[in-house]
Amino acid sequence: MSRYKSYLTIEDLHKVVGEEITLRGWVFNTTGKGKLQFILLRDGTGVVQCVVFKGNVNEETFEAGKSLTQESSVIITGKVKAEERAPGGFEIDVTGLQAVQIAKDYPITPKEHGDAFLIEHRHLWLRSSRQNAIMRVRAAVIKAIRDFFDGNGFKLMDSPLLTPNACEGTSTLFETEYFDLGKAYLSQSGQLYAEASALALGKVYTFGPTFRAERSKTRKHLTEFWMVEPEMAYFDLDDDMDLAEDLVEYIVQFCLKTCTKELAILERDTTFLEKIKRPFYRISYSEAVDYLHKNNIPLKKKVDGQEVDILPFPWGEDFGTVQEEAIMEQFDKPCIIHRYPTEAKAFYMKRDPENSKVVLAMDMIGPEKAGELIGGSQREDDYDALMKRIKENDLPVEAFQWYLDLRKYGSVPHSGFGLGVERTVKWITGASHIREVIPFPRMIYRIVP
Ligand code: 4AD
Ligand code: MG
Repeated sequence: MSRYKSYLTIEDLHKVVGEEITLRGWVFNTTGKGKLQFILLRDGTGVVQCVVFKGNVNEETFEAGKSLTQESSVIITGKVKAEERAPGGFEIDVTGLQAVQIAKDYPITPKEHGDAFLIEHRHLWLRSSRQNAIMRVRAAVIKAIRDFFDGNGFKLMDSPLLTPNACEGTSTLFETEYFDLGKAYLSQSGQLYAEASALALGKVYTFGPTFRAERSKTRKHLTEFWMVEPEMAYFDLDDDMDLAEDLVEYIVQFCLKTCTKELAILERDTTFLEKIKRPFYRISYSEAVDYLHKNNIPLKKKVDGQEVDILPFPWGEDFGTVQEEAIMEQFDKPCIIHRYPTEAKAFYMKRDPENSKVVLAMDMIGPEKAGELIGGSQREDDYDALMKRIKENDLPVEAFQWYLDLRKYGSVPHSGFGLGVERTVKWITGASHIREVIPFPRMIYRIVP
């Protein structure tokens, strides 16, 4: 008797070929004629075809099999057979079958449904094989991230989600009342706390949900998304970029190794992913702007509600999708763009000592229209310079007093970055919209289910 028998899953069938086993799952699909019924069973780990032959079971079992509908829950006993032609490579010769609950009129049928319908039924849509594969890749991405940091001397130091101040600009803050203490905000990034943690523990990472009251209605923006944020004492911008490359290479190679089945279900062409090995490309913001000029790529700006093209692209503006995608056309691997204009970036970034117009910032842009995967920087470590930036940005000095303290007591050069989990999963899976890569997406127009 196999010890895998009691809670055996479809992905473990290869361990029990020839044995009689029991599977617990749901009906994907049924077909049948005369004395034969074919039940396509799913259990979350895979699908397997179960064959009910009238001669092998009693009348009651055969009738129970016939009563099964799409998504009915069922417990099936049978003998495992290797069968090359069957999906997954195995087949079950059914000897017993027990319907747990018969589903009536399951709303998602194999026919095409519109996006709006599917997203409204997200709680059920997650059962489909594409969504199942995406969620499994997501779990692999998260495991890769944790393994990478835990294995490289980083300590997990989670940051609070309710915070008294902004981190990434005040325009995308979710606000809430906080007892008698006034307003609190949902965290846009754990970075400021990660900095305090790094000065205490050296190399740390925070990993959790972050919130942006983003008005952007794009395929790459969520209002709640997961971000991993490493922060390292004594790291400069170059060290920061090296670490970002190491991390992304590790995640992609881990997924290629452990998610072959999922990427096949998703029909993902992995040619580009296989090339994701260091070194990636690196260019400065100014070099990127030169490229935009040479290729006549404009800045797209809304003026009086109308989108207008501004040429040549003005130095000083941040890049959007149009510019990122144009710049990435030259590259088959991610590219890090560094040293952005001070006014385009957050208050906490350190000025480049060699050029005060730019900060020691870096964004990693992915190939295949993946967009910005990572945003990071070397942090301003000088008390006076940071105070000046807080004031220039009209931020409340009191709320940042504790953060300023870090520059008073043993300040050191330090750097970090944030990698968006959903952006990364979207890229690796090739999903067309970011809402497909998080179990229950939160967007401007959606909070249910
Ligand atoms: O570039 P961002 O805003 O950087 C920060 O928050 C820094 N404080 C991180 C740090 O240095 N510790 O965000 C980092 C990443 C982006 O590159 C992107 O991958 C993802 O977070 N991201 C989003 N993902 C989904 N929906 C959104 N609205 C996102 N905004 C940012
Ligand atoms: Mg950014």
